[in-house]
Amino acid sequence: MENQNGPHLVLIPPPFHGHMTPMLQLATVLHSKGFSITIAHTHFNSPDPSNHPNFNFLPFFDGLSSTQITSKNFVDIASTLNCLYNLYDGFFHFIDSLAKELKLPSIVFRTTCATNFLTYHVCAHLQTKGYLPLQDCKSLDLVPELELLRFKDLPIFNLRNPHDFLHCTSKNLSITPLAVIFNTMQGLEDSSVIQLQQLHKINLFPVGPLHMIANEFNNISIMRESDGCISWLNSKARKSVLYVSLGSIASWEEKELTEMACGLANSGQSFVWVILPETVNNVSEWLESLSEDVKLGVTERGWIVKWAPQSEVLAHEAVGGFWSHYGWNSTLESLWEGIPIICQPHFGDQRVNVRLLSHVWKVGLEWCNVMERDEIEKVVRTLMVNQEGEELRERATELKHEIRLATNGSSSDALNGLVKCILSIKM
Ligand code: UDX
Repeated sequence: MENQNGPHLVLIPPPFHGHMTPMLQLATVLHSKGFSITIAHTHFNSPDPSNHPNFNFLPFFDGLSSTQITSKNFVDIASTLNCLYNLYDGFFHFIDSLAKELKLPSIVFRTTCATNFLTYHVCAHLQTKGYLPLQDCKSLDLVPELELLRFKDLPIFNLRNPHDFLHCTSKNLSITPLAVIFNTMQGLEDSSVIQLQQLHKINLFPVGPLHMIANEFNNISIMRESDGCISWLNSKARKSVLYVSLGSIASWEEKELTEMACGLANSGQSFVWVILPETVNNVSEWLESLSEDVKLGVTERGWIVKWAPQSEVLAHEAVGGFWSHYGWNSTLESLWEGIPIICQPHFGDQRVNVRLLSHVWKVGLEWCNVMERDEIEKVVRTLMVNQEGEELRERATELKHEIRLATNGSSSDALNGLVKCILSIKM
């Protein structure tokens, strides 16, 4: 194991793919800068240590709340590892007070976009001004203080009853880490980063997109990737395939999946489709239950996988569109490859991402319709064969070049700044 003598960092990710993956990517980058790394993780959804021979892994606790992680756990870790810095996902905001008890310096990593974090401040103001709870959850009115969003785009879980969300945001706003890291990049959300900088007056480091910066190291997925889809893509024409993946958390009813199958088959387009085992356990059996023509359309033009090598798929020249729920990692991965999008948000930050994609960056079609075959066929054809889709594709290609240019140098400066900040901490 290398870098065992470098300054020791403990990274604490929540056990969700969309959080774990960027944390492991960040760990990979920090390890390459000379830090010794320990990943303190839950037993549930634990990462596979054999994929990361350079890191220590410490199963830590089982739950997701402050009642299941105590200062005793924390003291155990601290004494096991001797002196440490700790770097945790903002999802685990309660770690801040535990770290303070032990006088451990903390840095927070926010795995959603900077604009999403800005909405925490905005929502706190909206609450004091009496806007919350919302009278109309579908309101298209622009949010005062953050006019790029409409009220319906706010990442509140339950727009009618925002209590839990506001509790969580006030906890998040009250923590006082030494610095905050964002998996974002220059040229995307500059005004949000500047506003956050003014509000927080601490170091903010936009070090993304981490999937690219850590790309020389593989095997960061906590799920196993299905074989075959890259060779299948190799046989397809340029920009002809739609990639369909609606997140690692959202799950679908079989009825909705059947509508998707019909809509995709009727669209006449080729597609790679991720169907998680939690959604349909036995895909072959489910396919048998479909009508003959839909089954034929799906098997002739589609490639179904349980888990795709997503960054590789999006970088493949045969892929011309993405239908996604738009978690932040998927957002960054598709922007980086210049892929236009059908954006179907489910909850939380996904609403913010979709507004950015469709309204600010203009590379996506916002699609909030119910899962019905005719609607699906229509939106797929709009993206893949119509003029509107072609324009989005052109804009996505332009944006790809813009962000690659803007990121060139700025993210590595931010990373160097982060390293300097960590090394300057006096224990
Ligand atoms: C969750 C939340 O849903 C999201 O809103 C938040 O921004 C991050 O945490 P998730 O639903 O997992 O994220 O979506 P996303 O952020 O897009 O992360 C999914 C990751 O899984 C991506 O890195 C993607 O490349 C990867 N993935 C997904 C695969 O590698 N293969 C797949 O088949 C599907």
